[in-house]
Amino acid sequence: LPVDPFDLVIFGGTGDLAVRKLLPALFHRYVAGQIRPASRIIGVAREPLDDDGYRGMVRDALGKAATDLPQQCDDFLALIGYRPLDARKDEGWDGFAALVGERPDNIRVFYLSTSPELFVDICERLGKYGLNQGASRVVLEKPIGRDLASANKINDDVGRVFAESQTYRIDHYLGKETVQNLLALRFGNALFEPLWNASHIDHVQITVAETLGLGRRAGYYDRAGALRDMVQNHMLQLLCMVAMEPPASLSPDAVRDEKLKVLRALKPIDGDNAAQLTVRGQYRAGASEGQSVPGYLDELDGGKSSTETFVALKAEIGNWRWAGVPFYLRTGKRLPERVSEIVVAFKPVPHSIFEGSVGALAQNKLVLRLQPDEGVKLWLTIKDPGPGGLRLRHVPLDMSFAEAFGVQQPDAYERLILDVVRGNPTLFMRRDEVEAAWRWAGPILAAWAASNEPPRPYTAGSWGPSAAVALIERDGRTWHEDND
Ligand code: BG6
Repeated sequence: LPVDPFDLVIFGGTGDLAVRKLLPALFHRYVAGQIRPASRIIGVAREPLDDDGYRGMVRDALGKAATDLPQQCDDFLALIGYRPLDARKDEGWDGFAALVGERPDNIRVFYLSTSPELFVDICERLGKYGLNQGASRVVLEKPIGRDLASANKINDDVGRVFAESQTYRIDHYLGKETVQNLLALRFGNALFEPLWNASHIDHVQITVAETLGLGRRAGYYDRAGALRDMVQNHMLQLLCMVAMEPPASLSPDAVRDEKLKVLRALKPIDGDNAAQLTVRGQYRAGASEGQSVPGYLDELDGGKSSTETFVALKAEIGNWRWAGVPFYLRTGKRLPERVSEIVVAFKPVPHSIFEGSVGALAQNKLVLRLQPDEGVKLWLTIKDPGPGGLRLRHVPLDMSFAEAFGVQQPDAYERLILDVVRGNPTLFMRRDEVEAAWRWAGPILAAWAASNEPPRPYTAGSWGPSAAVALIERDGRTWHEDND
């Protein structure tokens, strides 16, 4: 169903995220018939472009999708405009406010796809022109700050202009199909929930591996590092979806209340145990997807940095359901393949009757693959078919969503942007969640800073420093490989 007409203003409209993700996502939803022609999309940035210049940029960003659907592309571009603005200068704001004011009945969404340092300046201007009134919403891209104090400051300052109910803190991992499917799998089936606890689950692994390196994002990434860029937000959100108690309903606060409880129950990792529970790495030159690639330091201007491009850690949740169940998390740039998955590994059977049989009993695992090829695999032990005695095999019950449903999954941003227009914040982070996530991540960062240890080097195209393997093998477990 189409959503109500809206004006979406993208601050940072010429930036990497807008061009690579947001505008293509909007085009797909337009083609799907969900965006009404009375809607507008207005790019805002400092570059001195005009509407046509920006439309050209958007057309390029759409690439093949635009050439395949020329008429729809032209119609979509007709919704698009551009205004050059500097958040810190007065110039142009009167005209911008007048433009937005032209369609008073449209829902207004201000998407701040800029550095968080500009969030407050932009919001204050929007407030000054009364653009925060009525059906107005603001979308804040991650990272919200770089620690608890700076996140609180941003949330306080933005909160003076936009109420919490108008504020959508986006974590695009929550828009991914498989992540939502976790809700359906866990709470729509009677099968898993009775086993979903420390009595039956041995451990959980969450891997978000990327083949990409630093690319053109040095300015941002070198100040952030993998813990701030991926763990504090995306990975903790995944962990919450796995670990939360069943919410009483799907209402936004019911779900977010449960996630918050998980974040608050995470056991602290700090100066006392960070050396045992965390591994930081930084890639050196190596090979990625068949090409030789430079190391992280070679890609940086200054050539010196102790920013981590890889993190592995062992987290624990201190509550009844999860006591003693480790959650192993790892993420990194320049790893051998792009793969994100959640592995729930179950405990072994209490007694084996197969002592004389060929083939060993292996652990049941539920593997939720977020990307690529989204799907679910349940690894089972079965009898190898055919005569010749009882031979055991470990095979997956395998459901690839693309094969099963024959549809291309929409990008996470497609769903989330429309959720903002609809006014549904379920898949967005509430303020207290962001704070709880920083409260846990902050002491890890502090422990690393205090230890003064440089990150461990790893070769681009490998699975990170060998210490990350040791982290899990020390506990008698291994990182899941798909052919296990
Ligand atoms: C972003 C991070 O939030 O997520 C990037 O800033 C990362 O560093 C990206 O590459 C990964 O998203 P996806 O959807 O490609 O897995």
